[in-house]
Amino acid sequence: MCGIVGITANESVSSNIISALKKLEYRGYDSAGIAINTESQIHQKKVKGKLDNLILSLQKDGFDGKVGIGHTRWATHGEPSERNAHPHSSRKVSLVHNGIIENASELKSRIELKNYNFESDTDSEVITALITHYLNEGHDHMESVKQTISLLEGSYALAIIFSDLKDKIIGARNGSPLVAGTDGNSNSLGSDSIALSAIANKVCYLEDGDIVVLSRENVEIYNSSGDKANREFVDIGIMDTEVSKGSYNHFMEKEIHEHPKAVGETFRQFIDHDQGIISVDDIGLNFNDISKVHLIACGTAYYSCLVAKYYFEQYARLPVECDMASEFRYRDPVLDNKALYIFVSQSGETADTKAALDFCKDAKVRTLSIVNVMNSSIARESDYCLYTKAGAEIGVASTKAFTAQLSVLLSMALHCGTKNNNVTIEQNRQICKEIMQAPQILEKTIKRSYELKETAKAIIDSKGVMYLGRGTAFPLALEGALKFKEISYIHAEGYPAGEMKHGPLALIEKDLPVVCIVPPGPLFPKTVSNIQEVIARGGRILMITDDDSLKSSSENIWKIFRLPKTPKSIEAIVYSVPIHMLAYYTAVQLGNDVDQPRNLAKSVTVE
Ligand code: AGP
Repeated sequence: MCGIVGITANESVSSNIISALKKLEYRGYDSAGIAINTESQIHQKKVKGKLDNLILSLQKDGFDGKVGIGHTRWATHGEPSERNAHPHSSRKVSLVHNGIIENASELKSRIELKNYNFESDTDSEVITALITHYLNEGHDHMESVKQTISLLEGSYALAIIFSDLKDKIIGARNGSPLVAGTDGNSNSLGSDSIALSAIANKVCYLEDGDIVVLSRENVEIYNSSGDKANREFVDIGIMDTEVSKGSYNHFMEKEIHEHPKAVGETFRQFIDHDQGIISVDDIGLNFNDISKVHLIACGTAYYSCLVAKYYFEQYARLPVECDMASEFRYRDPVLDNKALYIFVSQSGETADTKAALDFCKDAKVRTLSIVNVMNSSIARESDYCLYTKAGAEIGVASTKAFTAQLSVLLSMALHCGTKNNNVTIEQNRQICKEIMQAPQILEKTIKRSYELKETAKAIIDSKGVMYLGRGTAFPLALEGALKFKEISYIHAEGYPAGEMKHGPLALIEKDLPVVCIVPPGPLFPKTVSNIQEVIARGGRILMITDDDSLKSSSENIWKIFRLPKTPKSIEAIVYSVPIHMLAYYTAVQLGNDVDQPRNLAKSVTVE
């Protein structure tokens, strides 16, 4: 998704704009640009490709000033190119935009713009054209912005500077996230708090319909009715150091190594040390009054929901439905006011998930969100919210947020089961002890996962990889396949192991790698027979299992990755590590951009 930044300060801003844009790189982008009001006029530079190209260009013939805006573009309308990069400027105004203007072509054909010289194929440039039109008509800056956004349909987060306003930035949001920041010396705007982590110590999360006016001295926020809005500024909650790779080669590598901390910190919220049990009590939700759970999310977050289906059915004996957010509301689902609708999202800004949340809120059913980014839109707009404590997740391929999501969901299911007497206090206490072992078992598993580097080398030329599992290992197979394909660009598919003979077995041919996730338990022997079906047809099996299983009949298995003994309750969390590691090593072997894989964005804020 696009990233926007704006800064007004008492000193030059271009280097801070560039460093804020660098913090937004994780969102994925294909071009970038900057515009600065240099007291006399607005100067801008735009490049195709990465920020380094913009930095080089500025080094050749740069400019600077005390108010400016910047942008990283993830192409929606118009191919990645310099002309389509943002900012989009006229002589009087320059702006950067995140979102989609759905009526852009209709607006471009308006009579008022018939003489406007459009230079790009983007939807965003029509906003510049309209503001310029209203300025030329004699409207003031604020009125020109208001008139313009009243015509826009779709989503936008905007940062706008004007050639005759020496220190002001006007921002506006509707449907795309926008954060205002301050540190006493400068005021800023960004697509998220990560962008502002080095230039602000307090932030304010703007709401849909807000317009904000930043000057060097202050920040004025107006709500959709045009009245001054008292929005709270909170501590930014993210240290600049958190958004760095440290000694790791990639953010994804660092974040896989943070599984133990992310899981430990997330569970810590729910451990009642006095009773020695897991409890999710202090959010004001009466868990006894829930007759059904409905889980809604996208991508990896959706796979955490599929694992949670097993948790809630097993521990709370509640019926569970899971939906991909992009399908949910278009199905016109039958909603149930005795159910709890749970929205899982790392970023808290995913447009499909937020739209599904809005759909449920309109129907006045109970909504709870499980989110990693504090104060994000989904977190703020759901009735209840539980946070994963994974810390900033920068790699586009989600890893530690996934195991942190499983930690919240497992805690909720256990708590529900204890409340409705399907789990005794003693059983809860026993599982709480198992949960407390999770960080240590994860550490051990990470250390063992280094051996998967060799396996990755052996599969980089494969034309595809199959992932199989039963029980909670089936959603893990889906997650493993998604992780693999999104960063290696090699096709991968997750399947229930029991489904092979109903079709996918036809795909098996000599040397096709098949990753089988086989934790110990009653499904183990059944999955081993699926493994033999694959081997009999020439497939190469990578079996992910534990130390003690499979003493015999392992001679014809290509590779075995053994995890430490893991309690059943936290198996899905621990078995996530090797599937994340295998994807990571494969992408590294292939020389791919691990943290910002092609075509993808970290936070998909458009539908
Ligand atoms: C996962 O590796 C992907 N980056 C993607 O599927 C992601 O999980 C999905 O877009 C949902 O994002 P969210 O958790 O921020 O809502």
